[in-house]
Amino acid sequence: MAMESLDHIRDELLRLVKGATSLDGLEQARVGALGRKGRLTGLLKELGGLAADDRKTRGAALNQLKDEIEAALAEAHARLNDQVLNARLTQERVDVTLPVDAATAGRIHPVSQTIDEIVAIFGAMGFVVAEGPHIEDDFHNFTALNIPPEHPARQEQDTFYLAATAADGSRKVLRTHTSPVQIRTMLRQKPPIRIIVPGRTFRSDHDATHSPMFHQVEGLIIDRATHMGHLKGCLIDFCRAYFGMADLPVRFRPSYFPFTEPSAEVDIGCSREGGGLKIGAGADWLEILGCGMVHPKVLRNCNIDPDTYQGFAFGMGIERIAMLKYGIPDLRTFYDSDLRWLRHYGFVPLDVPTLAGGLAR
Ligand code: DAH
Repeated sequence: MAMESLDHIRDELLRLVKGATSLDGLEQARVGALGRKGRLTGLLKELGGLAADDRKTRGAALNQLKDEIEAALAEAHARLNDQVLNARLTQERVDVTLPVDAATAGRIHPVSQTIDEIVAIFGAMGFVVAEGPHIEDDFHNFTALNIPPEHPARQEQDTFYLAATAADGSRKVLRTHTSPVQIRTMLRQKPPIRIIVPGRTFRSDHDATHSPMFHQVEGLIIDRATHMGHLKGCLIDFCRAYFGMADLPVRFRPSYFPFTEPSAEVDIGCSREGGGLKIGAGADWLEILGCGMVHPKVLRNCNIDPDTYQGFAFGMGIERIAMLKYGIPDLRTFYDSDLRWLRHYGFVPLDVPTLAGGLAR
C-alpha cells in the first residue's frame, strides 16, 4: 500500500489548527486530526497492516507528528482562551468611577431614613440601640409597665392577640409599643442604662393617621442622678436637631402614662395659618412625643431599687415625625410599595440628610 506523504498531511493539519479562530473551530480541527475518525487516527490504525520495518519508521514519524499536532493544539487553545477571556473582560468591565445614576437608583424609605436620623442624634448623646421581639407576653407589654387591667390598650379591639392561651389564661400579643424593651433591658442589665429602641409596633387601627403596623422609638435612661431637668434638655435638643431648627419652640405639657410619674407630652411650635402646617414659628402647638420619669413601680418590677436609681423614658411614633418633617400627608401610603411615592418621598442613598451635612432640607 502506497504511503501518503506525511509532510503534506502535517501542513494541512497544522494549518487547520493554527487557523482556528474560535474554540469551537479548534475543537473541529482536533476531531479532524485526532478524533476517532480523524486523519491521524486513521493513519495510526493503518500501521497494523505494514511490514515490521515500515511499521517502525512510519510509526515513529506518525507519533512525532501526533506530538507536534498536540502541542499546536495546546498552544492554539491557550491563545483562543485568552482571546475569549479578554473579550469578556472588556465587555463586562464595571466602571466603578461612574457616578450613580440618581434617576434610576433605589431609594431609602422615609421610615429607614427617619430611624437613622433619630439614632444618629441620640447616638451622639451616648444612647445605644436596643431591640426586642415583636411577639410579646402580657408581662412585658402591660403588667410590668404598670398598665392596669382596664386600660384600653389591653382591650381586644385595640390589640392583636395570638390565639393560643397560656396556662395562666394569658395570650401573647403583637407588641403595642416599644416600651416592653424598657422592661427587657432593665431585667437584663444593671444601671446605668441609656438605650434607644427603634422598632415595629402593632395596633388594630386603620385610617389616614393610623396603620395596624407602624414604628416607634423608645428611649430610656436609668442611673442615680438623672432628673426631670435632664429629660427636658435631652428632648428639647432632640426636637431642635431633628427638625434642624435651633430656635424651635418646645413645650412640656403635663400628661398621664401608667409607666411614668410625672408624665408629660412634648409639643413643638407650629403655624396652621392658611390651612397648611408650618413647623417652627407660630401660635399653635403640635404634639410629637410622650415622656416622663420612670415610675418607681416599674423599676421595682425590674428588681431595680427606686431609692437608689431613677431616670426618664420617652416614646414617639416614627411615621408621625417623618410625616411632619417631610410633608407626607397620609400614613397609609408608607406601606403601599408604590414606586412613584418612593421616588418622590424616598432618599437617594448617597445624598441623605445627615447631622454633619444638615438634617433639614
Ligand atoms: N408607650 C407609649 C405609647 O405607645 C409612648 C410612651 C409615652 C413611651 C411615654 C414612653 C413614655 O416611654 O415615657 O403611646
